[in-house]
Order: sequence, then C-alpha cells, then structure tokens
Amino acid sequence: MAKLTDQEAMNLAIAEAKKGYGWVEPNPPVGCVILDKDRNLIATGYHGKFGKSHAEIEALKKVKNKKLLDGAHMFITLEPCSHFGKTPPCAVQLATLPFGSVTFGRVDPNPAVKGKGSLILRSSGMKAIKYKGDRTELDKLHDMFCYSYENTSTFVTIKIASSIDGQMALKSGESQWITCEESRLFAHELRARHGAVLVGRGTLNIDDPYLNVRHPKFKKFRGENKVVVIDPDGSILNNIQKYKISNYRSKKNIFVVTSNKIKSNNKHCQHISVSLKGKYLDLGQLKKTLFLNGIQSVLVEGGPLTVSQFLEQNEANKLCLFMSPSILGAKGGMSWTSELAIKKLSQKIALQNSTYEAIGSDILLTSYFKGAFS
Ligand SMILES: NC(=O)c1ccc[n+]([C@@H]2O[C@H](COP(=O)([O-])OP(=O)(O)OC[C@H]3O[C@@H](n4cnc5c(N)ncnc54)[C@H](OP(=O)(O)O)[C@@H]3O)[C@@H](O)[C@H]2O)c1
Repeated sequence: MAKLTDQEAMNLAIAEAKKGYGWVEPNPPVGCVILDKDRNLIATGYHGKFGKSHAEIEALKKVKNKKLLDGAHMFITLEPCSHFGKTPPCAVQLATLPFGSVTFGRVDPNPAVKGKGSLILRSSGMKAIKYKGDRTELDKLHDMFCYSYENTSTFVTIKIASSIDGQMALKSGESQWITCEESRLFAHELRARHGAVLVGRGTLNIDDPYLNVRHPKFKKFRGENKVVVIDPDGSILNNIQKYKISNYRSKKNIFVVTSNKIKSNNKHCQHISVSLKGKYLDLGQLKKTLFLNGIQSVLVEGGPLTVSQFLEQNEANKLCLFMSPSILGAKGGMSWTSELAIKKLSQKIALQNSTYEAIGSDILLTSYFKGAFS
C-alpha cells in the first residue's frame, strides 16, 4: 500500500473536493483523506451536495474497520465545522475518535466556525494542525468562499469568450459563437459554480440571453439560477418581464441594479440601488450589497463596458478567458477592454496564479487579480 506524504495527502484531498464543484455552493467544496497510523491511504471523501454530509463524514463512512482509526491522520482542505448548520458539527464527532492528527488546509472564515473547529479538536487533546505546505492550490480551491467571508463582499469572476486578438463581439453586435462547443458547455458549469450571473443592460438589449445553466450534469437548476443586471437609469427595470431572463425565473432570482436616484416598486424583480462613483455605479458598494443579499460570487458575462468597469474600479477577482484560435480584427470588432485606458505601462494590471488548459479547440486562461487571496 502506498504511503502518502502530507503534500500528497493534501493534493488528494483537493482533487476530492473538486468533485463537489457546482453542487455544494454556497458551501465551499471540501475534500478529505484518511491515512492509517503508518500513513497508508485508507479512505477519501468529499462534500457532494449542499445540505448533505461533509467531506470528513463521507471519508469516515468508508472506513469499515474502525480499529484503523487508532493513531490515524486526517487531511481536510478546510477546518472542520463547529456549528449546527444543515448537518451536526463535524469537529465534535472527530473529537470522539482516536486520531493521531487532523491537518486542515485553511481556517474556515465563516464567523460561525472561524477557529472554533480546531479549538474543539485541541480541547479534546487531539493534534489539530494547520497545513504548512504550499497553499496555492488550497487558495484557489476556496477562492470564492474565503474571499467573500473575509471581505464581506461578493467574489467576482470575469468570464470572456474572445478571439485570439481579444475581440468579444463584432461592432454589428454579432457574437454567437466565437468559442467552441466544449468551451460553451464549460461556461455553463461555471454558471453552476457561481451564486449569480451578472451582465450589463447592453448585453440584455442586444442578445436577450437566458443566462441559465444548461448542462447535463446540473439539471437541478431548471432555469432558477440568480441573475444580476446593471441598469443605471432603470431603463429596463419596468419591463424586465419582457426579457428572456424572466422566463422560468421567479422574482427572487432576478436582481436589477440602478443608481440610487431611481425609485421603483417593481413586482417582477428585486431592485438594488447603489451610489455613483463618478460617471459609473460604485461596484465595490454593489459587491457588498450582493453579499448581504446572500450572493457569495458572481460570474460576469457582460460586454466591454461592464467588464472594463470591474477592472477600472479594481473590483474583479478572477478571470476566465476562453480564447478561440480565430481573428476578428480590432477595426470591426469589440475588444473586451475597449472601455479601459491604462496610461502608463507601469500601471498595467498584472494577474497571478495563472493556469492554461486546452478546451476543445480553445485555450482557457484562468488567472487571479491582486487581492483575490488574503
Ligand atoms: N463574447 C463574450 O464573452 C460576450 C459577453 C457578453 C456580451 N458580449 C457582447 O457585448 C456586446 C454588448 O456590449 P455592452 O458593453 O453594451 O454590454 P454590457 O457591458 O453588458 O452593458 C453595458 C451597459 O451596462 C451598464 N453598465 C454596466 N456597468 C456599469 C457601471 N459600472 N456603471 C453604470 N452602468 C453600467 C450601462 O448601461 P447604460 O447604457 O444604461 O448606462 C452600459 O451601457 C454585445 O454585442 C454582446 O453580444 C460578448
């Protein structure tokens, strides 16, 4: 049997956690690995569905011979919970078991848990260790969950489908389709992983998209994912029911954001108003307001103005850039940064923790903006 190092065990726990993507939100995806006292792998588990049992409990269920838990080592991507949520506290259950150690990847930033889970373990005499290895992959795994609780603000992922020369549409408004079918399917998975999809009024007027999750793995949504539309003057607010986003969605899942000068008692959507920051809406304030409305993360699928404003106001956290090996030309195209002007090279927006993967015939670049991790 293979003996695992701390790093191998944590990497395996991270791989397990990812199996819950799209199913567990607004909970974090969490994975768990149990090694026996000699560090042989005996079980793995992950949090598979919101409201269902957590990763530690799933892994424990797989250990039939409980004697193997004597002096065993557990690795979890996140501190075990300490509160009664939809399930009983995992830390209390772990504290009754004869583990040699429990290593967790990150402290749970949810104020209901934060440090209390590890305290329960330590108070029972158990060795509860914060993982000391490289935390890059752990930070990425828990990006939305940790950012939103640590900043009491919604995590923003910008999703772009562009040509290799950075055009996201033609000036004529034509934009379907630039990227391949596989990329478009993965974009639906990204919708499933986020608390809401956000666009500007322009995209609604030009494309009139559904913005729902259409993916064979995530049939559970049935068009009921949340959607946020930025509409500063309230020009679409009073006829929102005419757009496709209103088909199959109830009022509680449609948020229209206007400047705080607009008053409305619209019956077909939720109305959020925020202050202006110069000419545009204050997106930092919007993120805080969305968080208070229970939206932990948004996938921005807007056009150039919406995207550029998130960049300009330094309120974007992550970029998912799907690039197709095609050229649309800047003269007749619409670049996704056409509304952004950087005056000096020293002010360029540098991204970090980038990964590149091939999706069908496209390339997906995933990168983080400064401040995405604490
Ligand atoms: N390839 C892709 O990934 C992709 C994705 C989405 C859209 N598109 C394409 O992009 C085009 C639409 O571009 P667009 O720039 O018009 O769309 P947009 O960015 O979705 O919407 C722009 C409008 O949203 C409002 N807005 C957004 N952020 C704001 C802020 N911070 N403050 C105030 N107002 C804000 C403004 O409304 P007001 O005009 O009322 O001020 C603005 O005109 C379409 O052709 C669409 O097909 C392509």
